[in-house]
Amino acid sequence: MPVTAVAPANIAFIKYWGLADRALGVPANQSLSMTLSRCVSRCTVDTIKGPDEVWWHEDGRARPADPVFAARVVEHLDRLRAFAEVDVSMRIITTNSFPTAAGIASSASGFAALTLAALTRVDAAVDPGRLSILARKSGSGSAARSVLGGYVLWPEDSEDPASAATTFLPREHWALSDVIAVVDSGPKATSSREGHFRASTSPHFGRRVELLGERLQRVRTALRERDFATLAEAVEEEMYEMQAIATTSRPPLRYWRPGTLRVLERIEALRASGVPVCATTDAGPNVHALCPDDAVTAVAAALSDDCETIIIDKVGAGPALSSEHLGM
Ligand code: PMV
Repeated sequence: MPVTAVAPANIAFIKYWGLADRALGVPANQSLSMTLSRCVSRCTVDTIKGPDEVWWHEDGRARPADPVFAARVVEHLDRLRAFAEVDVSMRIITTNSFPTAAGIASSASGFAALTLAALTRVDAAVDPGRLSILARKSGSGSAARSVLGGYVLWPEDSEDPASAATTFLPREHWALSDVIAVVDSGPKATSSREGHFRASTSPHFGRRVELLGERLQRVRTALRERDFATLAEAVEEEMYEMQAIATTSRPPLRYWRPGTLRVLERIEALRASGVPVCATTDAGPNVHALCPDDAVTAVAAALSDDCETIIIDKVGAGPALSSEHLGM
């Protein structure tokens, strides 16, 4: 019987950007994110005879996945098989509910879903901590956070960058939304993987790491106290700093597009008019406008003219198994 897992993307308030150890794929700093609920990956796994198969499901049908992506999936399957001590081939069929590789954490949700579905299929014991560490090893660090719901801190132990993610606060604590202004839905030119490698070549990277502890503390306190103004200030500080590191890396990386700046200006004007909203971006041009749930209508209306599409998402519960399997 196939097993299907659905896992959400997440949006980081404090970013994972840069590695402490390239070989181990462990982050240079602690990050904190909000798990989403509508931007999800669905992954169906079954065991088969013959070699592994990787399929991409779109518009109601499956076709062979892009070879680079398929190779990454098989590499991760090898890791999962070694962990579970099994030797079986698998068929993977996967899809996303949102644009792939456009800075909306599609690899985080995709590898979290694959890890959960494959381990469940081979009856391996999967507690969230183990799932987080294995998902991180896929090469998408932020997948380590997509295995949990609510507001998630990773790594949980500031002294151990290889430790798992942990729930910082449950989603019931604060109903925040993420209005995603998709200004460019095409795949990005440079992967976040390359961005992580280059981060330490920025002359400002060391200083960033020094300053991050205090900023993370401010975000934690703002979340705990549901203090949106403090959260907004820290989240935007973090967005600009991550982009500053990217643009001063050698060679430089620029993820923003002209449309990104137009949306950022809109968000600034909206906030000045009294709407509680702030912006963050990842390794891509799209803007995540964060706001309390009751501001969503105003935020979406203000941003819709300046982007291709708006995706309205909110804090979510984390991954789950599903009986709706993807078929060939
Ligand atoms: O998960 P990765 O390796 O693709 O890196 C994600 C990096 C950012 O999305 C830019 C920041 C983050 O913490 O999610």
